[in-house]
Amino acid sequence: VYASIRLDDGEMLRIYGPARVRVREGVLLVLGAELTEGFEVYIPQGRSYTVKARGGAVFELGLEGEARVERPRPDEEPLDDWLAVAEKLFDACELPCKVAVLGPVEAGKTSFTALLANRALARGVMPGIVDADVGQADIGPPAFVSMALVFDWLVWLRELEPAASRFVGSIEPGPATGRILSAVASLVDEALLQGAGLVVVDTDGWVHGWSAIEYKADLLRVAGIDYAVVLGSSELAETVERFMPGRVLYARSPREKAVRTPEDRRSLRSANYRRFLENAPERVVDLSDVEVYGSCVFASRRVADERIVAELSSVLAVEVVYVGSFPGGYCVVVDSEEPIDLQALRGIQKRLQGDLIVVHTGGFRGVLAGVSDGGPNEWPAVVEWVDIEAGRLALRTKYPGAVRRVVFGRIRLVDGYQEASGRKRIWI
Ligand SMILES: Nc1ncnc2c1ncn2[C@@H]1O[C@H](COP(=O)(O)OP(=O)(O)OP(=O)(O)O)[C@@H](O)[C@H]1O
Ligand SMILES: [Mg+2]
Repeated sequence: VYASIRLDDGEMLRIYGPARVRVREGVLLVLGAELTEGFEVYIPQGRSYTVKARGGAVFELGLEGEARVERPRPDEEPLDDWLAVAEKLFDACELPCKVAVLGPVEAGKTSFTALLANRALARGVMPGIVDADVGQADIGPPAFVSMALVFDWLVWLRELEPAASRFVGSIEPGPATGRILSAVASLVDEALLQGAGLVVVDTDGWVHGWSAIEYKADLLRVAGIDYAVVLGSSELAETVERFMPGRVLYARSPREKAVRTPEDRRSLRSANYRRFLENAPERVVDLSDVEVYGSCVFASRRVADERIVAELSSVLAVEVVYVGSFPGGYCVVVDSEEPIDLQALRGIQKRLQGDLIVVHTGGFRGVLAGVSDGGPNEWPAVVEWVDIEAGRLALRTKYPGAVRRVVFGRIRLVDGYQEASGRKRIWI
């Protein structure tokens, strides 16, 4: 459905995506961006944005699928409040300024992050964004923390190209807080180094419970955050105020908005894996001279004792193709895709007195990895096959440089860039 729409000065329209907006006349405000003639924005499925005319505006609106529009009631829209919070922040925070945006799921964190970037651009300040939400990553693929510099009006973070990324390997923050924190700290510094006058850290919505609070507090501290903006939870704002007295701003969430279902989120992740990995060429890497992280197979020393191999084979009732040891445990590769009998596993674990990690021979295929030249900037790759005996690895990646480091993650991608096995951790 295509329509040409005219809004008078100050008039607003809420648009639920998938929708395309193209400005014809006047100025249209979206997330603090001042869009003029010819500018086009895309509002994806599962997202909604409110546009507002300044001095009258005409735009073309293309609605796809379940897209729709509605007129916001005067008190529903937080847009003017958000702009006021952004102004307050620029008044208070000396440049270069480092801001973190916190709040529960669907609070508007990512939207507010874009708004802050747009308001910086309007002031002639170059913004950098650090995307610390590994589950709903927009700048880089999921399981990465990425940073981008912003050069033009921004509505959807996926329009940005990452300037630098760090591989975390997990789409859940809980098991990977250390990796996320070090990535955020170094990418904030990198953004400043590349000339950003404002750095905004967009975070995940995990804010309930002490582990979550402690993780967010650590993020503020290690990244040297100057100001926090908390969306949608005044209780959270009060807590954050304890860590950063006088340096916390609160903004409310949009009352009416599109909400993403878990399926929407999965398919958004899938589309973002695809963006970085589709049509990537295959590369075969000789691992003898490469740093390999994230795999007990490559971190362990082969156990030559045939008795241990034979015992493991008989107890686990599968063919064992490799046994390696590491301090405090064993890494066993079995030639089977069937899950191992838990009882048998526990029994032998007790006898061996240590960790016992069982890896299936097909376990490497589809694993998401990060590759680099040994420097901190890591690129996405997906494993095709591994030859443990020969120490060779085939990957698909768009990374053009020399592979000096491979970091295996905990996610396996199957056909169509879907995550396999739900939330279960994979071991390799
Ligand atoms: N001013 C607005 N009017 C209506 N809807 C809005 C407005 N601003 C943001 N939204 C919508 O609210 C929803 C939540 O916003 P957003 O994705 O920014 O939240 P978030 O806190 O980053 O969520 P997540 O926890 O998933 O990262 C999205 O659908 C977004 O498009
Ligand atoms: Mg978000």
